Amino acid sequence: MALPENAQALPAKRRLVTSPDSALVSRPDRREGGSSYDIETWKKSDVPALVALEQLWAPWLRKSQADFLYIADHFPDVQRIARPKTDPDTVAGQTTVIQINWGGPEKDDFTTWDKITGGPDGSVKNSNFSETFRRDGNTYVLTAATVDPTIRIHGERLAPQLVTSVVDMASRDPNILYVISAFRPSDLGKYEQEHGPIDFDKYVKMQRGDGELHDTWLRGVTNLGMIPIRTIKDSMRVTATREEFEGYKRDYHRELWKPITEDRRTWLCGETGTWQIVGDPHNPDPNAVYAEYKEDNLLGLVYSKQPSSH
Ligand SMILES: CC(C)(COP(=O)(O)OP(=O)(O)OC[C@H]1O[C@@H](n2cnc3c(N)ncnc32)[C@H](O)[C@@H]1OP(=O)(O)O)[C@@H](O)C(=O)NCCC(=O)NCCS
Repeated sequence: MALPENAQALPAKRRLVTSPDSALVSRPDRREGGSSYDIETWKKSDVPALVALEQLWAPWLRKSQADFLYIADHFPDVQRIARPKTDPDTVAGQTTVIQINWGGPEKDDFTTWDKITGGPDGSVKNSNFSETFRRDGNTYVLTAATVDPTIRIHGERLAPQLVTSVVDMASRDPNILYVISAFRPSDLGKYEQEHGPIDFDKYVKMQRGDGELHDTWLRGVTNLGMIPIRTIKDSMRVTATREEFEGYKRDYHRELWKPITEDRRTWLCGETGTWQIVGDPHNPDPNAVYAEYKEDNLLGLVYSKQPSSH
């Protein structure tokens, strides 16, 4: 399959799955006796547990309970949840999916995470897919994956199991040609805390000593055959009033906040993106936009039913 010229070369271990019959499982499976989880679709009764899991995210990146309810009500069949077999009332992880029309790698017309998920103010805080979900779409877009760290079991590979489940679903549906995502690296914030700001494109290619990618989430999906297509600049944006911004800084992991410019207007916050103060601190309007969070994402192709052109 021909990729766009600007496709990024990552050390993918496996290549793209191009046949619906191809098994997606990629790496040696350390599990014995199969998975300890059942991967199922969402139910409305799962929403409290999904909202609880969402608390793992920074407050400005959390989907609201109302949006979870709307998605569980209108598009439950493509969402995935993982329940421990031994404790099926618990939610160990989830992935959220939206169905859209996409031009494919050659006619890539993906915009940004915000525009695809369709929040009215263009932010993750208000994104219930109501405006942008297309039942006749040819592509599943993974919009989030979360695994409860307290239930993480070394070697269980729950996140890859969730992604594999979405790919299985895509391979069974003749209308679905692709599974893609605007991937947000899971460890970029932590890396920048320790080593200072790094160029996004450089970070996503960074490898550990064993040749595997440094970033946990990108490593997991790369080992499932994800092919990077391009960087999406400012894929996610969130704005905040002065009170909200100061509240985030005060209440959300205070130790993670670091100014990285001399004027103290650009801040690391432990997340994939950074905050920029764009407003005037003396503006008396309490609703004025004071700060803006922006992050880049990596557009990647996880599955394609299109035949290879090579
Ligand atoms: C990124 C994320 C989804 C990965 O989920 P996961 O189920 O832990 O993924 P994996 O099972 O593939 O494990 C990833 C790595 O952590 C290791 N790991 C898993 N559980 C572990 C544990 N208890 N202790 C130490 N290492 C552990 C795995 O061995 C693997 O490392 P390896 O590739 O060197 O073998 C999860 O960490 C998460 O929810 N992060 C926060 C949200 C996020 O960033 N989501 C992605 C963007 S939407």
